[in-house]
Amino acid sequence: MMLGEFAGFMKGNGSMSEGVNSINADWHRRLAEIYGPSGYMAESAAYPGVKQRLDIWVQKLIENGVFPSPDKGRRVTIVSVAANSGYLEMRLKERLGENYLVVAGDIADVPREFGSRAVPARFDAARLPFMQGSIDVLIDLLGAAWHEALADEREGNGGFFFKQIIARYCLHLRPGGLLIIDSDRVRGPVLSTAARMEKIGHSEQLAGFKGPQKIGWDTFRVYTKKEITD
Ligand SMILES: C[S@@+](CC[C@H](N)C(=O)[O-])C[C@H]1O[C@@H](n2cnc3c(N)ncnc32)[C@H](O)[C@@H]1O
Repeated sequence: MMLGEFAGFMKGNGSMSEGVNSINADWHRRLAEIYGPSGYMAESAAYPGVKQRLDIWVQKLIENGVFPSPDKGRRVTIVSVAANSGYLEMRLKERLGENYLVVAGDIADVPREFGSRAVPARFDAARLPFMQGSIDVLIDLLGAAWHEALADEREGNGGFFFKQIIARYCLHLRPGGLLIIDSDRVRGPVLSTAARMEKIGHSEQLAGFKGPQKIGWDTFRVYTKKEITD
């Protein structure tokens, strides 16, 4: 990647301690272990069927024209917050090309796809190391919001952590920016992020966003950050 250009868009050095507000900190430490090098989920993208599912997802996102076009030469910034190995992000970058900056972030130190032109980054999605209002598209697939909703369900706290992380996403998106979550119901026993929202009694709507628009037979839900005038 071009480090200079990424540095201008990131806040500080992107370290894990930046902007700490202790959101669900113990759970997040645990997640970094579970999905990290010595954890049992370190190679989730290598599990049979995962790459095939991610290829289908990339195709659906592209064929449904989800991503905005670059405006007057300005690159579109896409931040995937829970990319794991970054396979989907690598494929997205290949399909979208030079006018798109694709960041493959994750809280865990996961082995990354070799040769990917997506930018690998390590951060907690609840403490995004980017300028407020700077991101065009935020992607969270079976990722951070999913795990927050799981923690909420266990603690029976009315969706507190889930709402907190969505508020963070809203803060870091530009007005009119997009948040994409998964709602795919045909993937076996693993619940989608949308289904996790339902489980904690959250409606389909998200505070600060319009939508959702349901994409690809409700494989994804796309939310648009409200403009000040909305
Ligand atoms: C099941 S994997 C999903 C990976 C990929 N998005 C997919 O759809 O296959 C979940 C990933 O979410 C990451 N994750 C969970 N909570 C996170 C957080 N707060 N910030 C960043 N990544 C997080 C985990 O480290 C893990 O790599």
